[in-house]
This record gives sequence, structure tokens and C-alpha cells, in this order.
Amino acid sequence: MTEFKPLVFSGVQPTGNLHLGNYLGAIRKFVALQENNDCIYCVVDMHALTAQLVHEDMATQIRSITAAFLAAGIDPEKHIVFNQSQVPQHAELAWIFNCVARIGWMNRMTQFKDKAGKDREQASLGLYAYPSLMAADILVYRATHVPVGDDQKQHLELARDIAMKFNMDFHDKIVPTGLGIDIKVGEEPVHAYFPMVEPLIDGPAPRVMSLKDGTKKMSKSDPSDLSRINLMDDQDAIAKKIRKAKTDPDALPSEVDGLKGRPEADNLVGIFAALADKSKAEVLSEFGGQQFSVFKPALIDLAIEVLAPITTEMRRLMEDPGHIDAVLRDGSARARVRAEKTMNEVRDIIGFVR
Ligand code: TYM
Repeated sequence: MTEFKPLVFSGVQPTGNLHLGNYLGAIRKFVALQENNDCIYCVVDMHALTAQLVHEDMATQIRSITAAFLAAGIDPEKHIVFNQSQVPQHAELAWIFNCVARIGWMNRMTQFKDKAGKDREQASLGLYAYPSLMAADILVYRATHVPVGDDQKQHLELARDIAMKFNMDFHDKIVPTGLGIDIKVGEEPVHAYFPMVEPLIDGPAPRVMSLKDGTKKMSKSDPSDLSRINLMDDQDAIAKKIRKAKTDPDALPSEVDGLKGRPEADNLVGIFAALADKSKAEVLSEFGGQQFSVFKPALIDLAIEVLAPITTEMRRLMEDPGHIDAVLRDGSARARVRAEKTMNEVRDIIGFVR
């Protein structure tokens, strides 16, 4: 039994300001993973058209996500940083996956239901097909590991279903090409062209919650700016938002179990832990028994210590868009070579003449 070569892939949409959830749920993990892995990080600009077609500041948004990747510490020379629209193979594989995925599978996607809202008839076809493009983003590189926040879990399960169905449906075509690999899915041996992607969702803050309501996800679309810390917030804004964050009247518990039923406390402890690269248990062993009047100032200091250098570097990078564009062009050229290799193999497996 062989294994697919480990390869990390993830993407971030260029819509709205990045916030602490994007940073802790995704970008901070991207940085850690690059130490021991081959990584591809993508600004998924084509996804940005699904909910809203016309964006006044599309180019600025693409550059700003790229700047965040670089400022957080991603090395675009050792790894690949690029924007999706410069690698048309994503869209090409997505079309094939549109023909693999079943409508019943797409109908289960909770994010589509949330984003389409009540007037589903008016949602774009792109919003509906979004998870199929997301599967193509990953599988056009035959990537194996995908660091994301908890909200993307269902989309990654769909990517596995699409990969599995492709592998099964084309089994007899994959075997003669010699391009498949014998893997195990559970106990089942499967001859696979596409790997079963592993989501990397662990860590103390897989789902960062709103600072105003610990039961709601921190999100760019929340009308209250006090609900989130934006990566471009200055130190005063960070301090103010944490000071005003909702809490309960009790002291922090000494054990993780004591956070049950206390969503705001759980969220702030998770944020502290993720920023400090510690577990929640370690944070509570330090702060258990303390009031929020002690914990919040410590969290403010830590958040500023971690985020301020990133914000400063992002601002510096944004002053030189030519440099950012050059990074994206170089990354896209390298990504295209890899993606085209997969597409040639997929064309051969399907039987397209080339
Ligand atoms: P997007 O752009 O909405 O978010 C980017 C990343 O941030 C994570 N995230 C969070 N993590 C923790 N707590 C939160 N409150 C929070 N909010 C957002 C998201 O889980 C994500 O990891 N569909 C994806 C983009 C995408 C993609 C891909 C990801 C397109 N193709 C292929 C991985 C692989 C999205 O809309 O993420």
C-alpha cells in the first residue's frame, strides 16, 4: 500500500477584511505547516464572484490577502502563493467535478443555505456549485492536507465524496494509465487517482466566535465591528474590542470542563491559547480562579504583541502593489505547471483527445 505524497493546500476569499477567525482558524496554521511540508496557498478570487458579482476593489482585496499571507510569515519562494484566476485549470477541473457531484449532495450544503438565504431562486449558480470548485482547487494539485476553520468541514467531506466517486467511476480507465495508487479508505482498499483529503481543523480555536455573542461565529458579515478583531485594526481598536467583549460574571475555571456552558469564556480562552501556541488547559492552569479584569488585559497585551507586527508589515507591503503582483505572477506560473500535469492525466483518464 503506498501513500500520496503529502501536500498542503488552502485558500482564502478576497472578500471583506480579514479577521482574527481567518487568522487563527487558517493563516496561522498555514505558517506553522510550511516548516515541514510542501504548501500551496491560494487567494480564491473566482470564489469571490459567487455571492456578489461586481466588486469595486477586487484587485486591492486580492493584494490585501496576499499581503496578509506574506506578513504572517508565509515564504512565497519555498512554497507557492498565487491567485486562483491565473490558473484556469481550477475552473476546468471544477466543470468535470460538476458532472461527478450529485445534486442531492449539493443540496445538503449548509453554507449554501445560509448564504442564499430565503430567496434561493435569486442565488447564483456559482454559489450553488461553489463546493465543487473548492474540491477542484485542492485536487488539481492532488493535495492531501487542508488547514481550514471548522466552518469548511462539510465542504471537505464533499471533496472526499467527489474524489471517491471519480476514483470508482473511472477505475477501469485509471488502472491502465498506471497513474493510480492503492490506498485504504477505512478498511477498504481503493485504487485512487485523487487522494482522500484530510482536513486539518484541530487546535484551540477552530471556530472563533463573535466577541459580542459566544454562540455566533466571528464573521466579516456581522454588522457590528465590535464583534470581530480585524487584521488591520490598530492597537487601540484591539484593546477596546477585547475590553468590551461580552463575558459572564464568574472567575475563570481551572479545568477545561469548567468552560462548558460558558461560550464567551470558552472563546476568549481559546483565542488566548491559539495566540500563545498553548492548549486551553495550559492557559487555565495559569489563569484559573482569576477574574476577567485580570485575564482581559493579559489577552490585550498578547493580541497586540502577535497582531501588531503583522498589521504593520501588511501596510508596508500594500504600499508596493507591484511587488505583490510579481509574487502572485511567479506563484501562478509555478502552480500552472503542476495543475496542467494533473489536467493532462485527467484528460487521458476520461479519454479526451489531445
Ligand atoms: P473564507 O475565505 O471564508 O475563510 C478563510 C479561512 O478562514 C476560516 N475561518 C474561520 N476559522 C475560525 N473561526 C472563524 N470564525 C472563521 N471564519 C473563517 C475558514 O474556515 C477558512 O479556512 N471556502 C473557503 C475558501 C476556499 C478553500 C478552498 C479553502 C476555497 N477553496 C480550498 C480550503 C481549500 C472560504 O470561503 O474561506
